[in-house]
Amino acid sequence: MSSIKVAILGFGTVGEGVYKTINTHKAKLEAVLGRKVEVAAILIKNKYKNRGIDKETLVTDDFNEILKLKKIDVVVEAIVGQEPAFTYIQRAIQKGCHIITANKEMYAIHGRFLQKLAAENNVSIGFEATVAGGVPIIQTLQQLLNINHIVKIEGILNGTSNYILSEMRARNLSFNEALKSAQEKGYAEANPTNDIEGYDAFYKLMILSEIAFGGKPKWENVPREGITAITAEQIQEVEKIGLRFKLIASIQLVEGEIIGSVRPTLVSEQHPLYNIEGVENSVSIEGDIVGRITLQGPGAGMLPTASAMVEDLIHVLVGGKKTNDLYQKSFVGTEEDKKIKQCWLMIQPGEAELKGVSTFMGSERDHHVLLEADELTISTLRKENHWASFFEVLGELNYKDSVRLTS
Ligand SMILES: NC(=O)c1ccc[n+]([C@@H]2O[C@H](COP(=O)([O-])OP(=O)(O)OC[C@H]3O[C@@H](n4cnc5c(N)ncnc54)[C@H](OP(=O)(O)O)[C@@H]3O)[C@@H](O)[C@H]2O)c1
Repeated sequence: MSSIKVAILGFGTVGEGVYKTINTHKAKLEAVLGRKVEVAAILIKNKYKNRGIDKETLVTDDFNEILKLKKIDVVVEAIVGQEPAFTYIQRAIQKGCHIITANKEMYAIHGRFLQKLAAENNVSIGFEATVAGGVPIIQTLQQLLNINHIVKIEGILNGTSNYILSEMRARNLSFNEALKSAQEKGYAEANPTNDIEGYDAFYKLMILSEIAFGGKPKWENVPREGITAITAEQIQEVEKIGLRFKLIASIQLVEGEIIGSVRPTLVSEQHPLYNIEGVENSVSIEGDIVGRITLQGPGAGMLPTASAMVEDLIHVLVGGKKTNDLYQKSFVGTEEDKKIKQCWLMIQPGEAELKGVSTFMGSERDHHVLLEADELTISTLRKENHWASFFEVLGELNYKDSVRLTS
């Protein structure tokens, strides 16, 4: 019986991890699939770099050479950015190849289109590695959607930001010192904008939104804020009242509308995301029947990401979900979806008076006040009190010195 031929696009952290995992798990793959898996071709940019790739494998910088091969069953895409990845994937689908991708930016933008194209060509797309690396969040969501209605998803989806915030807190470092440490350890790239400004978490959130709610909010309506403005002083101050800063990506249905955000949020000790430290990722899913499920694990790295992609390889080859079944068909608001009021902590730098709230009793001593308000109220308060910082608080907070306000 002929072997399953795989082409890997990109041979960086992810592509090389997939190549190694296929080679180290040959026997297991053959046992599960009933056929050998062979990496027939690898696409790279610089074909003169020595990479220790088997001589039998075609190594090329020209994608046409891969498409010209007599047989490619699966294309694993692990290059960076929207293009040329999007074009290559379309061409591979049209040639009848299954696709597995790790490229969150490309998939957040073009995922729905590619799924449609894949369905038309009777192939499947695996994209587990696009969100939270080795954490099987996509498969878990698809499984839950057989019967549950997803109410909310919130999580720590960017390991680099979480590492920086953890280091700032545990070692009392400034943002720049913690970023430097992340770069030295290989957790942050030389240009860390995508991670620290929340873009990476945003793309992942949009992918989750499509699966859970059958659509995405308008991108311009999703507040996206990174962690660059958080100071070491703020981190130490909120720790005194049992809170930690986390870059939280969150998406939920409110009155039938998909509402999302990516922003620094304060998390209390009782919340499952409080103890997620360092480069770990964690996602908490709330389903109407199951309640809350929290997954935690490595969000990036060579082998965790390869693990997700090789699992996808099996799924696309042995009756994985057909593309049409991947997304919840449509989203509808339920009676329970209410205009949600959240708990917020306002941190004042000095003795300035809080405008826009007629009566409030806060902890003058600590210059912070707890508020209970919806997004709109907070956005008005932000405008009127631009010297103060407002952070949403997740989890229970037992804080005697402040009084909660209902606005
Ligand atoms: N790193 C992780 O832990 C992780 C986790 C989950 C998802 N992802 C996603 O996976 C993808 C790959 O990430 P990575 O960390 O492996 O990146 P990387 O280490 O920078 O590797 C990128 C690879 O793609 C090749 N490449 C780039 N542009 C190309 C082009 N136009 N034509 C042909 N080859 C090209 C490069 O070739 P050369 O080697 O010749 O330069 C390199 O081998 C990204 O979309 C990333 O967001 C990464």
